[in-house]
Amino acid sequence: MLYRIMRSFLFSLNPEKAHDLSIKQLKMTHGTVLDLLYRQKVQQRPVQVMGLTFPNSLGLAAGLDKNAECIDAFGAMGFGHIEVGTVTPVAQPGNPSPRIFRVLEGEGIINRMGFNNEGVENLIENVRNSNFKGVIGINIGKNIHTPVEQGKDDYITCMDKVYPHAGYIAVNISSPNTPGLRSLQYGEALDDLLSSLKERQSALAKKHDKYVPLALKVAPDLSDEEIKSIAKSLLKYKIDGLIAANTTLDREMVKGMSHASEAGGLSGRPVQSKSTVVIAKFAAQLNGEIPIIGVGGIDSVVAAKEKIEAGASLVQIYSGFIYQGPPLVKEIVNHI
Ligand SMILES: Cc1cc2nc3c(=O)[nH]c(=O)nc-3n(C[C@H](O)[C@H](O)[C@H](O)COP(=O)(O)O)c2cc1C
Repeated sequence: MLYRIMRSFLFSLNPEKAHDLSIKQLKMTHGTVLDLLYRQKVQQRPVQVMGLTFPNSLGLAAGLDKNAECIDAFGAMGFGHIEVGTVTPVAQPGNPSPRIFRVLEGEGIINRMGFNNEGVENLIENVRNSNFKGVIGINIGKNIHTPVEQGKDDYITCMDKVYPHAGYIAVNISSPNTPGLRSLQYGEALDDLLSSLKERQSALAKKHDKYVPLALKVAPDLSDEEIKSIAKSLLKYKIDGLIAANTTLDREMVKGMSHASEAGGLSGRPVQSKSTVVIAKFAAQLNGEIPIIGVGGIDSVVAAKEKIEAGASLVQIYSGFIYQGPPLVKEIVNHI
């Protein structure tokens, strides 16, 4: 009820303004009596994934708390893990506004943010200041001005810096809003990236006496052949986890709806089944050897369970949270 009132106010603003205002309010209210507005008791059911203990199976997907400003506030809502970022080595403004659009009829979102963030040092400072007892994933990417051929260097730079502070590191090569980024998902480029990251992970594990798992985040726009090939590389390089999936370029599901022709990645209910299918196909290739974090269009307990039945060990939400707020977190955590 409370979120419905809040939502009608937030949805009267442009989406980015609503987002910025919400982040600001969460930052300001956390730790004060006002956090009772979103603090919730949930039933914790710990799960072991990638060698880590997650207090429950639901996480906040990357992109909502890009600079790790509100980890404790999201933790208070009941999330078992929070994936912050995508963060890049250097702060960057992202694409020109407007760059987020609500597809109201379908409960979807189209965004072309382009990795707007305050840079990795700022994110680390915020992570260090948080008291969250769940798992913090740090999602890393490359700066827009770094040529794709040198993209690997940006991932390594971020990895070196975030490693001691992360529960797991998510390697995002699937945003549609950084030109050329998705080309890292294929063939030699992927193998080269994964082998370098894995090598670095071994060195960092020794240096910090701590093993931090690496998870690759992929797009839902992949052919069966591409899925097979990525899965083969994940197994070859012993990557610790797969996050499936990011936003889609496909507009079939939102034909005729508002903002459907805006450029960017589509998320929310319209991608629900597409992402579930991708998870099932990866699960078939990965033979249970690499856990999958399922994300895409989860807007109910049923939708979360579908992802788990398709092969996900953990699930995440972003758009569903925008449409339904903290009650969706409680509902899902208490029933999966
Ligand atoms: C406005 C917006 C910004 C996003 N930014 C990122 C990002 O920075 N990094 C990332 O890996 N995914 C990002 N995502 C993708 C989400 O993490 C998620 O994979 C996708 O939205 C599908 O989940 P959903 O249907 O629950 O939203 C973003 C999504 C939205 C809607």
